Amino acid sequence: MRAVQIVNLDGPVEALSLVELPDPEPTHMLSGERAVVVDVHAAGVSFPEVLQTRGEYQLKPPLPFVPGSEVAGVVRSAPEGAAVKEGDRVAACCMLGGFAEVAAAPDFLTFPLSDALSFAQGAGLVLNYHTAWFSLVLRGRLAEGETVLVHGAAGGVGTAALQVAKGLGARTIAVVSSDDKETVARDAGADEVVRSDGPWKDEAKELSGGGADVVLDPVGGDRFTDSLRSLREGGRVVVVGFTGGSIPEVKVNRLLLNNTEVIGAGWGAFVMSKPNLNQEIGEELAKLVEQGFVRPIVGGRFPLERAADALELIDSRGATGKVVLEVS
Ligand SMILES: NC(=O)c1ccc[n+]([C@@H]2O[C@H](COP(=O)([O-])OP(=O)(O)OC[C@H]3O[C@@H](n4cnc5c(N)ncnc54)[C@H](OP(=O)(O)O)[C@@H]3O)[C@@H](O)[C@H]2O)c1
Repeated sequence: MRAVQIVNLDGPVEALSLVELPDPEPTHMLSGERAVVVDVHAAGVSFPEVLQTRGEYQLKPPLPFVPGSEVAGVVRSAPEGAAVKEGDRVAACCMLGGFAEVAAAPDFLTFPLSDALSFAQGAGLVLNYHTAWFSLVLRGRLAEGETVLVHGAAGGVGTAALQVAKGLGARTIAVVSSDDKETVARDAGADEVVRSDGPWKDEAKELSGGGADVVLDPVGGDRFTDSLRSLREGGRVVVVGFTGGSIPEVKVNRLLLNNTEVIGAGWGAFVMSKPNLNQEIGEELAKLVEQGFVRPIVGGRFPLERAADALELIDSRGATGKVVLEVS
């Protein structure tokens, strides 16, 4: 099969090489023999793969290795008792190995792909939407009728969070940095859009009638204190990531004074040891696909051999929605 490997740690432009490799065996580091082998049609590209080209991500396999945490395609083989079978269209989180024509994923992280979604959309379904559901529902306790403010709202996690929140009956405020990203956030269902370089905290307080119930934050950095200030009493900031580059620190007296919370949401660490939970989240998301709320936004499409350009787009803050490699 054709695959793209990370062969050095010199960054997205220099680190990738297109190679011929044997097809993967039907095994996976997370599920042993219970692996689903997928003929890959589309592979999702995400921030962690950019970090992996610099050796800056927590998962650091020995070089060379095939990156790519999620794919969509058609099942070549599946273990008995899996939720999918040979010939099914699926979306799967494989952790590594997705930038290839064939990939192996744990059975508990492989999900039927609705006919309502293309393979490219399927390649953006697991990482971002499971994270959004986990962060908003299981960690943020978002309830119908509440207001959620989403940072990085035109990005992969951001657009997923907007769609999932709408599906849960919440009101959404998107924070973005440009006109183009405002359009994407509105397409993803933002009720209101504010600018990250403007007075967004005051605007959010006004638009929400006193403060947001939940702030979903994949960005971190300087804006964190204003996120806390934008909450109403009982509000929660859910920490999802740090694309802004720096990890904020919290003065906990602010939490005491305003009766607010900061909550960590690490999807992978939480769900990897809970196979059934993954399938349950998959079923909840399938309902939102059925109801038309979940429609992954594909913001950039590249052939496998241009994987470096896909990573560059994310690295330069130019990506919107999900960036995808069209593999076959
Ligand atoms: N906790 C978890 O379980 C989990 C799961 C999946 C992903 N993540 C993390 O969530 C974060 C977001 O992932 P993603 O796939 O949504 O990324 P993405 O599509 O690249 O979007 C990230 C957004 O961050 C904003 N941003 C602000 N400052 C930035 C900067 N200096 N460089 C780049 N972007 C900047 C950008 O929006 P504006 O330009 O509008 O500001 C951008 O749209 C990543 O850190 C990822 O590792 C965490």
